[in-house]
Amino acid sequence: MKDAIERLKALGRESLKGGGEARLEAQRARGKLTGRERLDLLLDDESFVELDRFVTHRSTDFGLADRRVLGDGVITGYGTIRGRPVYVYSQDFTVFGGSLGEAHAEKIVKIQEMALRNGAPVIGLNDSGGARIQEGVAALGGYADIFLRNTLASGVIPQISVILGPCAGGAVYSPAITDLVYMVRGTSFMFVTGPDVVKTVTHEEIDKEGLGGADVHAGTSGVAHFAHDDEVQSLAAVRELFRYIPGNNAERPPAGPGTDPHDRRSDELAALIPERPNRPYDMSAVIREVVDDGVLYEVHAGFARNLLTGFAHLGGHTVGIVANQPAVLAGVLDIDASVKGARFVRFCDAFNIPLVVFEDVPGFLPGVGQEHGGIIRHGAKLLYAFCEATVPKVTVVTRKAYGGAYDVMNSKHIRGDINLGWPTAEIAVMGPKGAVEILFRKEIAAADDPAAATEARMAEYREKFSHPYVAAGRGYLDDVIDPRDTRPRLISALDMLADKRDSNPPRKHGNLPL
Ligand code: HXC
Repeated sequence: MKDAIERLKALGRESLKGGGEARLEAQRARGKLTGRERLDLLLDDESFVELDRFVTHRSTDFGLADRRVLGDGVITGYGTIRGRPVYVYSQDFTVFGGSLGEAHAEKIVKIQEMALRNGAPVIGLNDSGGARIQEGVAALGGYADIFLRNTLASGVIPQISVILGPCAGGAVYSPAITDLVYMVRGTSFMFVTGPDVVKTVTHEEIDKEGLGGADVHAGTSGVAHFAHDDEVQSLAAVRELFRYIPGNNAERPPAGPGTDPHDRRSDELAALIPERPNRPYDMSAVIREVVDDGVLYEVHAGFARNLLTGFAHLGGHTVGIVANQPAVLAGVLDIDASVKGARFVRFCDAFNIPLVVFEDVPGFLPGVGQEHGGIIRHGAKLLYAFCEATVPKVTVVTRKAYGGAYDVMNSKHIRGDINLGWPTAEIAVMGPKGAVEILFRKEIAAADDPAAATEARMAEYREKFSHPYVAAGRGYLDDVIDPRDTRPRLISALDMLADKRDSNPPRKHGNLPL
């Protein structure tokens, strides 16, 4: 091995230490770790096996001929996380700014293909100035080669992107195709065109963080699913994810410890729903009461907070939770929530993760902005995702299930397997006030006391519709349960559904309303 390194050095190649001490220092000064340190934190101790460390670029343009660095600016290989195999690549910004040339891309493609063949996740640690300018179209082609593998692997193996530096231009489209994107505040940026180009074209002045920093993407654009304060937290969060995801689409997700008693009832739950139906409450408190050990791994926590998505264990089963959040915008479904939910549901369905839905939804958000923004098209994504999902699907209606949102949120009609309601559930076309104002407009206008007439009709409506028993009477709810029994009843449903087999008609692929 030593001989080989000496021989390569003699051929004009530099050292195994990235781009040299000065550049490593600059990396540290920015609060960034090196590519190797990141892998050390991400992977189980001593598990990393590097591949292709002797690969260098083949370009001779713009002075590259005499600047060959072993590994060509990306460290690739395999290792384990929580004892389970993963394939990794980690771009080294100290070597040509982590820029991607032909050989660099070939190394990543090799990892992607090995991961796909062997059924294990790929984790990409991105820190790159983008396409290596000196390598021109070979660099662009390299990106396209990666995008193709990202696409072919989608739904077959989990693909995770951690953005730990610049990720700009077309380079953003690899993370964008992957399943989950992690970013770090202050040091990672994603944009198609940077602040300078934006200023020239639109005259808008904005810095990198404001244009494409972690909080922007985890809170506003939805491009990123997680934002952390530093790299250590970010990489630890990826390790944590491996409590929940399987290695590939033919595997079951890993089981949780299952030590939290399966028959644990919760008195707290009965008290969580406010007396008045328009009062908010925190659905995450409901979820934490129900799931094993109160642990929820929230995904996309900062984006479209009116819908909550995340992984948890329930009686040891890994589940994907989708829940309306009455504490934000009354839990209404809007464009962002629909897109967030749809993508999460499809991830869970692709990777055999049962879905558990907690429902309290007053409907879709009204407004010109929503209509013109395409709430019809985007809302359809969530509906489509729930309809096509064949994993075990369980729903608990805690309060409102109004209008089209009732259908969308994993109703019985779209193959919900077990649908339960709390006694506080209200399943109706709309709330009492709206309904009465439409149905009895003329009667109320003609009444001596319109307010009293409205109230009388609303009372009548509530008695007829604002409860779970019409739905339960038709079998659209399988049962109306005491909220305190929610955990044991959900676990029983998941146990019962453990070997569920369902499928969709054969086809090339569906035409999800994009
Ligand atoms: C070759 C590059 C490079 C690139 C950076 N470097 N980007 N070399 N190709 N794309 C080199 C620099 O020459 C420098 O080398 C070292 O990396 C560090 O770069 P600095 O500029 O000194 O660092 P910093 O000030 O931190 O700025 C980082 C940066 C900036 C913001 C990433 O370098 C930059 O804007 N780079 C160009 C980004 C870009 O436009 N890329 C193409 C995007 S289009 P030395 O030897 O001095 O250390 C794209 C298309 C993808 O990627 C195709 C998909 C369809």
